[in-house]
Amino acid sequence: MRNRLLLVLVGVVALVLAVHDIPLAGHLERVERDRLNTRLERDAFVLAGRAEKALDDGTAVLDPSLTALVSRYSFEEDVRVAIVDAQATGVVGSDESVLGEDFSNRPEFTEALAGRPTTGERPSATLGEALFFVAVPVLSGDEVVGAVRLSAPERVVSEQAADNVRGLLTVALISLLIAVAVAVIFALSITRPISRLQKATDQLAAGDLSTRANDADGPPEIRALAGSFNSMAGRLGQLVDRQRAFAGTASHQLRTPLTALRLRLEQLAQQIDGDGDATHTLDEALVETDRLHRMIEGLLALTRAEDTAVGPVEVDLSAVVKHRADHWAPLADERSVEIEPSTPDGVRVLAVAGAVEQIIDNLVDNALEVSPPGAKLQISVKAGTHVVELHVIDEGPGMSATDRARAFDRFWRGSGSATGGSGLGLAIVQQLVAAGDGTAELHPSPTGGIDAVVCFRAP
Ligand SMILES: Nc1ncnc2c1ncn2[C@@H]1O[C@H](COP(=O)(O)OP(=O)(O)O)[C@@H](O)[C@H]1O
Ligand SMILES: [Mg+2]
Repeated sequence: MRNRLLLVLVGVVALVLAVHDIPLAGHLERVERDRLNTRLERDAFVLAGRAEKALDDGTAVLDPSLTALVSRYSFEEDVRVAIVDAQATGVVGSDESVLGEDFSNRPEFTEALAGRPTTGERPSATLGEALFFVAVPVLSGDEVVGAVRLSAPERVVSEQAADNVRGLLTVALISLLIAVAVAVIFALSITRPISRLQKATDQLAAGDLSTRANDADGPPEIRALAGSFNSMAGRLGQLVDRQRAFAGTASHQLRTPLTALRLRLEQLAQQIDGDGDATHTLDEALVETDRLHRMIEGLLALTRAEDTAVGPVEVDLSAVVKHRADHWAPLADERSVEIEPSTPDGVRVLAVAGAVEQIIDNLVDNALEVSPPGAKLQISVKAGTHVVELHVIDEGPGMSATDRARAFDRFWRGSGSATGGSGLGLAIVQQLVAAGDGTAELHPSPTGGIDAVVCFRAP
């Protein structure tokens, strides 16, 4: 957009200059011709006045002061002079050749001797180029006693005109350069605030609700737009915060009655001790209660993970991996599954506090859930310069590509999953990883199971 605006502005200026300057150049040439004409005519009359007496007396040929004047004038002004008597015979001139020459065949002298001043142009055989001339009569009273012709090569006019056009072109070029500079400043003043606003919109779209546009600079319309954007972003942030707070509070509030409910069910179990059917139903009710409890805990964990106000900190991933592997070992033992942690020492990553433990726990929980007895469960760390990968690899049945893509959705659970899950584990992992600017994906592992990969940012 910036370049198009620039092009339009400069184009308009160039067009205006062309429309203005092309006729002006022609006009300047005409003005120059008129100026030379007027000057020569004036000078011719002055010389005619000066020669009048000598021509009247017939002593012009011998008049040394007239000859000197003509020579000086011709030399200073670069103009050829020819003065003829009433018979069109040359008497004084800037050239020797004028003296005694018969000019009666030159139309300008015929006209001038008939009492009519003339101006014009004609090719000169003597000079081999176009001549610009003025011829005026020399009058003594009413009688024409001779004529004066001043002539200059046509190139004097064209050179002067070319000079003027050059000046005009220089001015036009300077105007164009100024126009370009103004256009650049103008285009930048409009497009820069727009690109800033666009950047802010992109950031908001990427989920950064704290983004605000600069509404202090730029044209008023764009400032107003930035202001509207800011109030929209502010309102959006408030709404999201309120919703999050609601989910958190609601989950929290549900905990107490749920604990009470579980207590009552346990009491009931003691009371109906001995009734097989009722005990079975009650056991199922307890399992559902436990599941509801896990779901509420999951929702609480998710709202905490969504609170992006806390930034990532440096965490010793190697230490956490070893610690969590030890923690899960007894449960894995019970199921005859072997947990194999493998990590170099001291690998550090960026993550929000407490996130790495929860991420590993959720992934190991899922992996253990699907591991058959005798299987291995690897937890490994691969450190790169910018990215550190955490792999949790199981030897379970694996997942289809569609299920792997959906597994991070909230409350989504595979069809063959155990009854205990909430469907929130991977959603929590995703949220915690994203808070540290990382990524989480499920890949098929060569052993047939799942290779859960989390990429953390290295500090
Ligand atoms: N390692 C895995 N192998 C096979 N299926 C898995 C694995 N991890 C997750 N899943 C599937 O993804 C679903 C979602 O996982 P999750 O979000 O942790 O919820 P939950 O474990 O509570 O069911 C699980 O129900 C399960 O079907
Ligand atoms: Mg899970």
